[in-house]
Amino acid sequence: MKFFIDTANLEQIKEAQDLGILDGVTTNPSLMAKEGITGEQNVINHYKAICDIVDDNVSAEVISTTYDEIIKEGEALVALNPKIVVKVPMIKDGVKAIKYFSSKGIKTNCTLIFSAGQALFAAKAGATYVSPFLGRLDDISSDGLVLIEDIRTIFDNYGYETQILAASIRGPLHIVNCAKLGADVITAPLAAIAGLLKHPLTDSGLATFLADHAKAAGK
Ligand code: E4P
Repeated sequence: MKFFIDTANLEQIKEAQDLGILDGVTTNPSLMAKEGITGEQNVINHYKAICDIVDDNVSAEVISTTYDEIIKEGEALVALNPKIVVKVPMIKDGVKAIKYFSSKGIKTNCTLIFSAGQALFAAKAGATYVSPFLGRLDDISSDGLVLIEDIRTIFDNYGYETQILAASIRGPLHIVNCAKLGADVITAPLAAIAGLLKHPLTDSGLATFLADHAKAAGK
């Protein structure tokens, strides 16, 4: 399973990369705004800086919502770096654009997926990734993990190569459950990824080992 970090914060991307387990990055307009990245040239520079840190794909989301504009914006984004994947919302013009990008060999991430039907539609159009939003479904008392399971079943039934990029992840248990269900990729904040490292029995076990060693060595 691949690990992407869901942020536009360069320090956090570097920190995750230093852990040695990071593959790629996903961003969205809210995450870019949170870092204060506005203006065409700043956005371009920021995507380039992210691509310089990681080895795998970097999802850059279009702001456009009409077919022609999505194509224009997406083509400009992929020209920045071969790692860039055009992140396109699950709307009618978005899916049409995904079909176009797919025919040109341009990678896409269909975002804002909340139903298995939407994932099927995006896969049929040739999306490279679909991004089902787990946490936002959980927030409205709908089980996000069931969606991952359903999409996995559908894609396996028909051999769709579209990868399931589980998004809107809130914590380490989401990541573990996505791994159990066969998601191809998870994208999560740094805290959720780093949370996988932690267990209180590891900490207390290590403290005991080190204390016993010190005692035996007469320290
Ligand atoms: C997905 O690509 C989105 O950027 C992200 O995972 C949304 O997460 P949120 O629901 O925590 O905003």
